Amino acid sequence: MPAALRVEGLGCNVIRHLLTLADLTAAEIERIFSIAEDLKAKFEKGLREPLLPGRVMALLFEKPSLRTRVSFEAGITHLGGSSLFLGREVGFGSRESIADFARMLGEYVDVVVVRANRHQTVADLARHCTCSVINGLTDFGHPCQALADLYTIRELIGNLRGRTLAWVGDANNVARSLAVGCGKVGMSMIMATPKPYQFDEKSLTWIRRNAPGLDLTITTDPVEAVRDAVAIYTDVWASMGQESEREARRVEFVPYQVNAELMSHAQKGAFLMHCLPARRGEEVTDEVLDGPQSVVVQQAANRLHAQKGILAWLLAAKA
Ligand code: CP
Ligand code: NVA
Repeated sequence: MPAALRVEGLGCNVIRHLLTLADLTAAEIERIFSIAEDLKAKFEKGLREPLLPGRVMALLFEKPSLRTRVSFEAGITHLGGSSLFLGREVGFGSRESIADFARMLGEYVDVVVVRANRHQTVADLARHCTCSVINGLTDFGHPCQALADLYTIRELIGNLRGRTLAWVGDANNVARSLAVGCGKVGMSMIMATPKPYQFDEKSLTWIRRNAPGLDLTITTDPVEAVRDAVAIYTDVWASMGQESEREARRVEFVPYQVNAELMSHAQKGAFLMHCLPARRGEEVTDEVLDGPQSVVVQQAANRLHAQKGILAWLLAAKA
């Protein structure tokens, strides 16, 4: 069996997956952040510490990606390992069962990053896989994004505990991951979302179960949301897979655009976050996305460092 995280005290190799942030404790998130911070500082001095020599990561993507794919591939290379991007010809979901596919992958590689249309696909793969599985985005969540986002806020303001993140827009995959992430690191979250697009009861139950300490406010008023926040976060109104709903959503979401007028209600020093790609002129204006409050480039750059933290934590026995 390829490398898996050795969990001290259990006397065995336990395969850890990162399917949602519910898979990590607050201490583990902090550990990933501190590995990422160390690796980032070394990287900025020109050092690429080979913590994972010979380790192999596969990427299996059912949807397009720039940031997630490239940052994972670059990240494992910096760490001395290598990556395989598995294209359509491997026949994922068509040539054989997910269980058979997963069992084979585990014989060849140490970790697989999966971007899937349905969260269940990633969960099924993990159930049968003998290597670690990382969720690289599903309809349900985007945990690696949320980790990089919280890492970025930590880098910008230091202590996260007691601070507020404002989400303005659709209660989507990224929002769901951030909600649990905020709860784990002690941040509050306030979401301004049109009623029909707010979290449903099932999502709220899942969030409350996995982040019981989270202080979550849900409103329909974007101004109320941004007023006390250190970070104002938005994302596309229609995610990948929801393209047919784009026009209907646009009608509902127009009052939720993050523009200079909305930002004028935020605290001085509050910053604008977006996971990207953005639909400029819809959820965010050019003026704000390219303006002085925007940290989106730092945020995207940190995908690389946060994911190196995840990989090193997951795969290096003594990271
Ligand atoms: N933010 C993000 O995951 O970007 P990609 O879809 O380009 O990977
Ligand atoms: N919510 C977006 C995030 C893209 C990174 C989507 O799922 O398309």
